[in-house]
Amino acid sequence: MLTVKNLTKSYEAAHGTVHALSNVNFSVQTGQFASIIGKSGSGKSTLLSLLGALDTPTEGEILVDDADIAKLSGAKQTTYRAHKIGFVFQQYNLIPNLSAIENVMLALEFGGMKSGSKRHKRAQELLLGVGLSDDEQLRKPARLSGGQQQRVSIARALANRPAIILADEPTGNLDSETGKKIFKLLHDLTRKENTTIIAVTHDLDIAGKTDRTFLLKDGTLTLQ
Ligand SMILES: Nc1ncnc2c1ncn2[C@@H]1O[C@H](COP(=O)(O)OP(=O)(O)O)[C@@H](O)[C@H]1O
Ligand SMILES: [Mg+2]
Repeated sequence: MLTVKNLTKSYEAAHGTVHALSNVNFSVQTGQFASIIGKSGSGKSTLLSLLGALDTPTEGEILVDDADIAKLSGAKQTTYRAHKIGFVFQQYNLIPNLSAIENVMLALEFGGMKSGSKRHKRAQELLLGVGLSDDEQLRKPARLSGGQQQRVSIARALANRPAIILADEPTGNLDSETGKKIFKLLHDLTRKENTTIIAVTHDLDIAGKTDRTFLLKDGTLTLQ
């Protein structure tokens, strides 16, 4: 279970204070698929970066199984990210000079899997699971389509069996049909592994198929 209480994030900018999130409250049950919609600048990426301990809140609590991740030390935040969270970004963020399988193997190495042959086997299974053939697994990102690159990034996000996947507009660079397939894949994987997913999307059709949808407007969150 993920519970957010009175979460606030303000940035000091040259023209004054920006209130990116104001007193946000919600919870998502383990294994649920939640979507977040809202206009550009409404605070969606800020919220995901706080949930993933990529940034610290100005105020409030983020309880993951009762531990407040906002209060973890820097080293513990890194451990939390490596073991509990999988990130999926709009721009895929794959390492360009590594093949698809090497990208996934690297995540497994960061997750502490020592044996190279085990990393190879698990990466192969993960990539087959998201629909990449043996040949495609050996290609570098530039030789894969956008949809295939996002599949690799999903495999990478799942590598260390995270409790939570945070996806920031994962289909933002894809055509709507490919985007729907990517969301279906995420949905199928949640059910299989009981992974909680929180995904930002612009596509209301997609949002309508998730377990619950939150709307962010000027840093204020409401349930749709
Ligand atoms: N590092 C930062 N410094 C100053 N302002 C920021 C920073 N990051 C985001 N903001 C501001 O916070 C607000 C929310 O941004 P963001 O979370 O990126 O919105 P969204 O992802 O919904 O487009 C915007 O007004 C944005 O300009
Ligand atoms: Mg954003």
